[in-house]
Amino acid sequence: ESLRWTTPSLATLRSALVDTEIGGAKVQKGDRIVLATYKANRQRGPWDPTSDRVAGLRQLWFGAGEHFCIGAPLAMAQIRTAITALRSVEGRLQAIDRTPLRNTVIPSYRSLVMEAQK
Ligand code: HEM
Repeated sequence: ESLRWTTPSLATLRSALVDTEIGGAKVQKGDRIVLATYKANRQRGPWDPTSDRVAGLRQLWFGAGEHFCIGAPLAMAQIRTAITALRSVEGRLQAIDRTPLRNTVIPSYRSLVMEAQK
């Protein structure tokens, strides 16, 4: 649900191979097409980890079709590992220091220091 809500890779770019129509809009061969996956995912409603809003989206935050993210299983394993570690911490977690990682495609932190407050 958090991957749906954040959609770290905000959009996907494609080029039209032929003249065609997408959802009523005329597209010419060579046109650049921006697939606004962030917007598509957010249309399901606000963040709610108790909901089934991810159902039917086929993990759109990892793309779709031939170029579906080859690293998705690794990313999911890393996320599960991190969440499992965080869940074992007692108290309320709060970020006390963070530095963004610049010049990357997917937003990330260079460092993120968290503290458990009881
Ligand atoms: C939360 C983490 C990640 C997100 C949100 C993400 C998102 C995406 C998306 C949206 C695409 C499709 C791009 C397109 O269709 O043009 C993609 C492709 C790709 N991703 Fe990821 N990715 C993540 C993690 C990873 C990891 C951990 C790896 C490698 C270890 C990886 C490797 C790749 C590769 C190689 C492709 C290109 C696949 C192709 O073109 O056939 N990704 N990713």
